Amino acid sequence: MTQAPPPAQEGPVSYKPMHATPGDERVHIVEVGPRDGLQTIQATIPTEVKVAFVNALSESGLEEIEVSSFVSPKWVPQLADAAEVFAQIRRVPGVVYSALVPNEQGLERALAAQVDKIAVFTAASETFNQKNIAATIEESIERFRPVVAQSTVPVRGYVSTAFYCPYEGKIAPSQVIPVLLQLLELGVHEISIGDTIGKATTEDVEALLDALLEVVEPSRVAMHFHDTYGKAVANARVAYDMGIRRFDSSAGGIGGCPFAPGAPGNVSTQALLREFAGLHSVEIAAIDRAAAIVQRWTG
Ligand code: HMG
Ligand code: MG
Repeated sequence: MTQAPPPAQEGPVSYKPMHATPGDERVHIVEVGPRDGLQTIQATIPTEVKVAFVNALSESGLEEIEVSSFVSPKWVPQLADAAEVFAQIRRVPGVVYSALVPNEQGLERALAAQVDKIAVFTAASETFNQKNIAATIEESIERFRPVVAQSTVPVRGYVSTAFYCPYEGKIAPSQVIPVLLQLLELGVHEISIGDTIGKATTEDVEALLDALLEVVEPSRVAMHFHDTYGKAVANARVAYDMGIRRFDSSAGGIGGCPFAPGAPGNVSTQALLREFAGLHSVEIAAIDRAAAIVQRWTG
């Protein structure tokens, strides 16, 4: 495909991706366990346990931790204590502490909690987007416009169901690219491509990245693999070989989406760290210790 790359967009905040250096072989992990991992848990996890989980992750050498979500507590009561968690964590200098934000109300709460980075989230499937954030894709982009414009911290943009939707089935790269371009046009600094229900094959990853890397630099893309069929590590390897250096994962492989039936855990951080041994400075044993803190609730 020959779509011309969009002009480089300057967001409201200057943001240099950690892996922007040409020739950089290192892998950068975004630990999403405290957010993606805990958003589906039925039992109430005490705030201090979440805080202890994030604090333990902070000691592992991770560069970025997605701590929680400033979404409607009616939709995701599991993360209603996002502000308390942010207020109580011990922040290690150099670690980026981020959170999901669906709208201006979320931005206001996130900035008050002094997050380092926010993530807006939409999807390549209309049905999933309606069920997840009660908006069409177009409406969600419009909802994010003031969020990105007003954010004083860097913004990530998720494109969920980029390979398969639990309601609509296979999603073509041609459905993903326009969403990605609209997010870039808004001024998001980084795109995370979600295999929300963990169904992508290595061929699917290759096909999407072939199209996607025609329109965006690999340094602005992260891959967010869930792991239903045990393909996530192989998928990450294919993405790495195609130039991607940034991967989302969760300690112990916990995770899922309450609005995507069948969405299992994220790829485990430990599995990715083993796969990319020598290409990161994260201590696997420290991730094991962190995962043990929430194991009682996550199984
Ligand atoms: P809505 O019901 O249309 O929103 O939901 P609304 O604007 O009508 O507000 C309804 C109520 O929620 C109001 O309260 C608002 O004040 C409140 P009331 O007046 O009834 O008392 N409200 C809020 N409260 C606190 N913070 C806010 C907020 N916004 C509204 N930010 C909305 C629309 C987007 C809010 C809702 O659908 C929502 O919060 N959705 C979040 C869903 C979610 O978190 N899903 C999981 C994360 S996405 C994911 O897991 C995928 C990912 O991992 C990547 C992948 O795997 O592909 C990222
Ligand atoms: Mg996810």
